[in-house]
Amino acid sequence: MFNKLTDCFTLSNGVKIPCLGYGTWQTPSGDVARDSVKAALDAGYRHIDTASGYANEDGVGEGLRASGVAREEVFLTTKHWIMDRGYTKTMAAIDASLKALGTDYIDLYLIHWPCVEKSHPNWREINAATWRGFEDAYKAGKLRAIGVSNYLPEHILALEEMCTVKPMVNQIEFHPGYYQPELVRWCQAHGIVVEAWSPLGCGAVLSDPTIGKIAAKYGKSPAQICIRFALQSGVLPMPKSTHADRIAANADVFDFQISDEDMTAIMTMPPLGYSNYHPTEAPADTLFGGAYDLD
Ligand code: A2P
Repeated sequence: MFNKLTDCFTLSNGVKIPCLGYGTWQTPSGDVARDSVKAALDAGYRHIDTASGYANEDGVGEGLRASGVAREEVFLTTKHWIMDRGYTKTMAAIDASLKALGTDYIDLYLIHWPCVEKSHPNWREINAATWRGFEDAYKAGKLRAIGVSNYLPEHILALEEMCTVKPMVNQIEFHPGYYQPELVRWCQAHGIVVEAWSPLGCGAVLSDPTIGKIAAKYGKSPAQICIRFALQSGVLPMPKSTHADRIAANADVFDFQISDEDMTAIMTMPPLGYSNYHPTEAPADTLFGGAYDLD
C-alpha cells in the first residue's frame, strides 16, 4: 500500500506514476489554473492531470513553472480531444499540447473519449488511426506513456487487435456510488492502471450519510474517505479543487486505513453521483460534435 504522495504505481512499460494526482477538470484557465496547480505542487503533489478539452493547459504549464519544481520531478498527463481524431490531426494535437503546456514531453497522453459505434460505424478504424499517432509520438520520445480514458473492454480489445503498443492506463469515472468494479477488475487483470476521474463524484458524494459516518469514525473528511477508497481499490485518484486548503487536505490520506467492513459498506452504497457520461452514448460527440478522420 502507498505511504506518501510520491509513492508510485508502475505502468506496463516500467514508467512510475505517483499514486495520487491533482485533477483540473472544470478548473478555469489562466490565473485560477496557474494558482491551483502551484498550490498543488506546493502541497507536495507531483502528478498533475489536464486535457486539451479542459482548455486550461496554458495555465497548468504556468503553474508548473511558477512552482519552481523541476519539470522532471512532475508527472504531467494531458488528453487528446475528440476533434483531433485521425493520425495527422493527432500528431498536430500533441505538438499543440506541448506548446500550450510549455514542455518538450508529456508523461502520459490519453485518448479522452473512445469513438463508438453509436456515432461512427467505423469507430474501430478511427480509434486505431488516432492510436497510431500516439504510438509514433511515444516511439519518438514526446510521450513517456500512452493510454485511454472512458474506454470499455471492447474498445481496448479493438485497439489491441489493430495496433502494436498496448494502452498503459484507462482513466474512468470512479467514486463511491459509481465505482465500476467489473471494468476496474478487467483493466487490472489486463495490466492496465486504472485512474479515477471525479473521485469525489464531482462533490456529490461528500454529503452522503454513509460516507459522513465513516469519515467521523476515522476522524477524516468525506473527501479523504473517497480518495482513500480509490487507493485501497488499487485505483489512482485525481481529486480536483481550486482551494489551497482543500488541495492540501485531499493529499492527507496516508495515515489511516479503511477497514474491510467499511470498504464493503462503501461498495454496497446505493448509486450516487453518476455523471451520466456513458462511453457507448458518445457523450462528448453528442455535446461537441465528433470529428471523423482516418488519415
Ligand atoms: P472546489 O474546486 O470549489 O474546491 P471531483 O474531484 O470528484 O471532480 O470533485 C471536485 C468537486 O469537489 C469540486 O466542486 C470541488 O470544489 C469539490 N471539492 C474538492 N475537494 C473538496 C473538499 N476537500 N471538500 C469539499 N469539496 C471539495
